[in-house]
Amino acid sequence: MIEEFEIRESLPSDTASIEKLYPDAFPDEDLLPLVKELLREEPIVLSLVGIVDRTLVGHVIFTTCSIAGRPDNVSLLGPLAVGPAWQRRGIGSALVREGLRRLENAGVIQVYVLGDPAYYERIGFKPESGVTPPYALPEEWCGAWQSITLHNVEQPPHGKLSVPQLWLQPALWAP
Ligand SMILES: CC(C)(COP(=O)(O)OP(=O)(O)OC[C@H]1O[C@@H](n2cnc3c(N)ncnc32)[C@H](O)[C@@H]1OP(=O)(O)O)[C@@H](O)C(=O)NCCC(=O)NCCS
Repeated sequence: MIEEFEIRESLPSDTASIEKLYPDAFPDEDLLPLVKELLREEPIVLSLVGIVDRTLVGHVIFTTCSIAGRPDNVSLLGPLAVGPAWQRRGIGSALVREGLRRLENAGVIQVYVLGDPAYYERIGFKPESGVTPPYALPEEWCGAWQSITLHNVEQPPHGKLSVPQLWLQPALWAP
């Protein structure tokens, strides 16, 4: 782990660095339109940046979601990006853990992610079947739909995850 590492909520002045980070971290995928839209949705989004020596090296977004007919406060993790030169130093996990800590304090009971289980299970995510993603996933992706429980409730959440409009793009949920 790096010594001078800070995690804080993103600021409007971080926009240029965030817009550079995503194409660097995801050379084959254009996530910038989604990220830009998410950053405009301040009240429903927790956006955290990782800073090393005033350089923005990582970013993660958590979006507030719901489950039809349930009062539960739940969240969707993604995207998560760490600059190629800064990967494998614990920055991605630190960003996710800090987000989970803040969401737990805010009363969020469960957080979902569509991502590589080899990565997220180290943070504590487990395969999720009670709550389903907005679009059916191809069979080979089912293990990639995961969750972590932050607060235990009497009746665990069950049903389809209801996401804000900007997440309702099938391409975001398909290989
Ligand atoms: C995936 C990503 C966010 C991880 O951030 P990071 O700061 O490098 O990760 P950490 O240092 O916290 O954890 C590193 C560990 O996770 C593993 N890991 C890293 N990326 C992984 C991936 N895509 N799948 C599975 N494991 C991964 C590594 O093996 C490493 O473990 P090791 O050093 O013991 O081998 C970062 O590598 C990244 O931005 N990659 C490009 C974009 C991307 O694929 N994002 C997908 C997020 S779902």
